[in-house]
Formats: sequence, structure tokens, C-alpha cells
Amino acid sequence: MCGIFAYLNYLTPKSRHEVLDLLLNGLRRLEYRGYDSTGVAIDSPQANDIVMVKRCGKVKVLEDAITEHFSGKEYDEPVMTHVGIAHTRWATHGVPCETNSHPQRSDDENSFVVVHNGIVTNYKDVKTFLEKRGYIFESDTDTEVIAKLVHHLWKKHPGYSFRELVEQVIQQLEGAFAIAIKSKHFPGECVASRRGSPLLVGIKTKTRLSTDHIPILYGKDTEAPKTKVLPRTESTSEFMPLEEKEVEYFFASDASAVIEHTNRVIYLEDDDVAAVRDGTLSIHRLKKCLDDPHAREITTLKMEIQQIMKGNYDYFMLKEIFEQPESVVNTMRGRVRFDSKSVVLGGIKDFIPEIKRCRRLMLIGCGTSYHSAVATRQLLEELTELPVMVELASDFLDRNTPIFRDDVCFFISQSGETADSLMALRYCKQRGALIVGITNTVGSSICRESHCGVHINAGPEIGVASTKAYTSQFISLVMFALVMSEDRLSLQQRRLEIIQALYELPDRIRQVLKLDSQVQELAKDLFQHKSLLIMGRGYNFATCLEGALKVKELTYMHSEGIMAGELKHGPLALIDDRMPVMMIVLRDPVYIKCINALQQVTSRKGCPIIICEEGDEETKSYSSRSLEIPRTVDCLQGILTVIPMQLLSYHIAVLRGCDVDCPRNLAKSVTVE
Ligand code: F6R
Repeated sequence: MCGIFAYLNYLTPKSRHEVLDLLLNGLRRLEYRGYDSTGVAIDSPQANDIVMVKRCGKVKVLEDAITEHFSGKEYDEPVMTHVGIAHTRWATHGVPCETNSHPQRSDDENSFVVVHNGIVTNYKDVKTFLEKRGYIFESDTDTEVIAKLVHHLWKKHPGYSFRELVEQVIQQLEGAFAIAIKSKHFPGECVASRRGSPLLVGIKTKTRLSTDHIPILYGKDTEAPKTKVLPRTESTSEFMPLEEKEVEYFFASDASAVIEHTNRVIYLEDDDVAAVRDGTLSIHRLKKCLDDPHAREITTLKMEIQQIMKGNYDYFMLKEIFEQPESVVNTMRGRVRFDSKSVVLGGIKDFIPEIKRCRRLMLIGCGTSYHSAVATRQLLEELTELPVMVELASDFLDRNTPIFRDDVCFFISQSGETADSLMALRYCKQRGALIVGITNTVGSSICRESHCGVHINAGPEIGVASTKAYTSQFISLVMFALVMSEDRLSLQQRRLEIIQALYELPDRIRQVLKLDSQVQELAKDLFQHKSLLIMGRGYNFATCLEGALKVKELTYMHSEGIMAGELKHGPLALIDDRMPVMMIVLRDPVYIKCINALQQVTSRKGCPIIICEEGDEETKSYSSRSLEIPRTVDCLQGILTVIPMQLLSYHIAVLRGCDVDCPRNLAKSVTVE
């Protein structure tokens, strides 16, 4: 939900064109977070001025506008220190248009310009306050109040530093935000802060950084920041003050935007104010809490640039679907020990005794992440013998669900930033439950606010529609079930069967991916239809829900995942000879029941496309069209059945001319409620 990116070079000569390229590139990496409109602000060649370019549409539109807008020799001349901020928007307040795009400004003179991700919930009050003081608002955004409030405080407190002004501002804001601000009154400085929305600082120096921590400054402080990032010179191992060194700073919503420049980052915490002045980074907080650390750690990212490139694929989604044989291996690596047939989850190991004593397990998430909970619930019930509840985070919060100290609450989230899931996490934490995070994003809010957790290690997922994260979340929960049943004698045979199937899984996935051309042919039959029903039950019901979600979000066709047992309670009325139907009918304990449902459909002239097991001639005989998937253990079938659905939604979307990686109205990391 909106991507913010800011860049500051200190004593590192860069032309304005180079800075603009950097900003555009940062935005391209963050585009999956929102693509309604975009904008940049940089220092103008005219002394002490800021120029902004904003456009409705994707980064490409902005790029064309920039080429048109910024020409002339002065844009090629190197500048020693420069600050640029950029934004790609997913509209929450105000329709997508140039005026509502970010950066938002304080006044006609662009005194303060801000990029923002999140929602300022009290913006109406702040706006009224500012309007009474003569401010005239030009946009419908909540963000504009931030720019104008800094301006108001700057006029009121002429002696305040830029950082202090921002500190004052964030104290007045309610809701969620990650912001980066630049000002013509504070050239060469950039201030950023966050609460609820993600933000990190990337640091690039020529010499290796000798420190792994940035100390935090506390309290009211009217002096200039004293803390410095001190890089060690390779040759002498001496500490050199940063002012004498070249340095570049990046502020970004996520690591994919900075990885091509640096792998050294600091994940900011809520209410941190990070300021760069005279090339020096300081992190400041107004209040010190008892358990606050004294410093923020500089982490080294493990991500590789290739992971966030499309390679030879037309779309990130397709690449991510085809990465699944490897991503599932990465999820299991070092955890499932195939030789000793054991499973260890380092991130929750110490909490297993407590989890075993719990009252119930609650699996909470949104969208695809919620479906991974639906997919594994049955196995968790079987192997843990505990009550397992699966919950949509938004509904869970609406209901004020009772939570007890001896509940264990799992928060499943690819991004680790989904607002509904994060709020539900805080709700459960306040009530004393143990919080387990299942995320794909190291350093994300859910990851940091959990007591323990499992990184699914699927690698960066850029396509807005989640694919490989789903199968990795699925496997993470299966691994958890295996850990919980390690000492149950009666379950050993079942555990061995599952571990063996996990071993074979990457090959089975490869086999399923070979169905791609068959699925493409099916897509040709289906893409002009209005609707697609997907039916199944037991371990495959989650595939129906997930398949329907993929079809809806990518193709804009109506689609519904139907529990086959519910067919006769209503949905059967939809069936006729024209309604496209897919049915998952595998040789598992619910096979006979699925065949009953299949017959109910065929006897109403329905002609379903069947997903069945390889060589199952009997099941195939019920229909003229089928997709055959390899056999695996029942509880892992959902991984193999979801892949044809991922491929089908992809091919239908391409045939319908939809933008696969950026479906309309959506964004990847949903950081607003
Ligand atoms: C669908 C999809 C969404 C997300 C949902 C939760 O393809 O990607 O439904 O699954 O927005 O996001 P995370 O997992 O980041 O919490």
C-alpha cells in the first residue's frame, strides 16, 4: 500500500539525472505496493528550490514526464549533496489524480514536501486546526496535513531543527504512517519516521562500516545530532568521522528497493525519527521505554538482486509460480532432516513445551495467507490433537473474539505488514496469548512483534497475487504439526509418510508445472466466460478458495470456491450446461463424497473440468476434460492442486489483457485497515 523511497548523497557527486534514475528505479521495485499514481521531488538547479513531478498512472508514465520535464545541462552537472524523495501510490483518501499524488507540499513554494504510506486517521481534526490558521488545502489526501503541520511548526519555532519539527508533528498524528520529508529550508537534510507502516534506512559507504549499531538519542534535544556512523577505513582500521567520507542513504518501504545499492540496512521501529544532517545519520526517540534497546542494529540483507528481477519471464507471477520447486526446498532447508526423519524449527523450538500446554491454536491471516491456514487446519488437528481455529484477521477484530493467556495465536503473513493481521496480533498480545509469526519478510512488523516464529524463506514475492508464499506458508504449518507430534508414538507412521512426501515434493511440483501448456489450452476455453466455480472438499477445499481468489484478482472474472458438501444446499442451482466448473477429485478419504458431488453436477448437464490423480481412468471417465496430477500424501495434495489454479488464473489474465503483476485496485502489502 504505497511505496516510499528517498535518497540522499553526501559528498558523493551525482547529477540530478542520476538522482532521478535512482528514484525511478526505487519506485519500480516498490510499484507492487501501489500503482495508481507516482511522484518525485528533487533539488532544483535554481538555488534553494524544490521541483516536483507527479503523474497519474504507473512509474513508466512518471519516467516519460521526467524525461520531458528535466532537460538541460544543469541536470547533468554533478552535485555533491542532494536529497530526493519519491512515491508510488495506492489511493486511500482522494481519487488517483496528480493533485492527490505524493509528494504533498506545505505551500506554493514547496517549503516542505512529504511522501507517506499509511492513513492519518485524525487528519480531519488537524486539517481544521490548520485551516483556522489560514492554510488552504489543495488535495483530498490525509497526507497534506503532515506537510502543512511541519510548516506551521517551523514558523512557530524558528530555532527548531528539522528533526525536532518532525518529532513535534508525529506526536500530533494518529493512525499509521511511514514518511520521508525534505525541505528547502533544510537543504541536504532528510527526515523520516514510521508508526505502523514499514520503513528502513539503507547505508552505502565506500569503506566497510565498522559499527553494527546506531545509538539512539532520547528526550528533548535542541542541539544537532551527535551520533555518527563511523566507517572503518580498510587500510588502517581507524575510525573516520563520516563527514569526511562519501556516503549515500536510502529510505524505503522495503528492502527490494535498496538491495541493488547496499545490503546494510536498519529497520526503524515505531516512532523512531531518523534524520540525516551533514552526512550523519541519527535516530531519535522522544521517550525512552524500559525495555528499549540503546541502539538500532545495522542488519546485512541476505537477499540477492536476481531474486527481485523477472529474468526470462514475462511476469513476476509466472516466475514465482515456476520457482516453487526451489522455494519449498528453501522453506524446509535445515529444518526437515530427511536422514533422521525429524523436524526442527529453530525459531519456535524453545516455545514448544508452552505450545503443547495451550488451550487452543488460532491461525489468523488475510486472503491467501488465511487460505494456508484453512489448508493445514485438518492436519494440525490430527497431529496436535488440539482445537484449531482459523480466522480472517478483519472478522476476528470485528467480533472482539475472546482470547486467553493460554491461547497460541499464529499470524500468517507474506509481507508481515498487513494492517488487519498486525492489529489482531496486538489484540492477542495484550490479552497475554503467545504470538507466533509465520512471515516471508525478515524485519517486518509481524516478525518483530511476535514472541517467536518461522520465516517461510520463499524469497521476495513481487507479483501482487501471492503464489510461492502460499505453498511455503503451507509447508511451514505442516512442519509445525510434525514438530508437535514428534513424541507421539501412535502418530509415527503418519509422520514418516508425510516426511517422505515432503522429500518427494519438489519433484512432484516440477511434474505439475509440466501441465502448463495443457492449462493454457483450458484457459483459451474459459477466458471469455463470466464465471468459474471451483469445487472440492477435505484437504482440497482451501485450493478452491485460493483458486477462486486468484481468478478474481487477476482476471476480474467472477469465481467462487465451493465446498463440495455444500453443493446441494444451494450452489447446485447455478449448474447448467454453460456454467464453467472445476472439480478436485482425488483418491483420499473424501473421494466417494467428491464423486457424489461430481455426479450431482453431471446429472444437471454440468461438464466439469476435473483435477484428478495421474492414471485415475475411472474418475477421468466422468468428464471430457481433466488435469492429472501426481499422487502424494493426502495432507500435501493441496500444494499440487493449487498450482494448476495459479497457472490457469495467470493464462486467463493474459488472454483477457489484464496486467498480471499489478491487478487493478490492488496492492501487495495492505498496510491500511
Ligand atoms: C492474494 C493476496 C492477498 C494477500 C493478503 C494478505 O493473492 O496476495 O490476499 O494474501 O493481502 O497479505 P499478507 O500475506 O502479506 O499478510
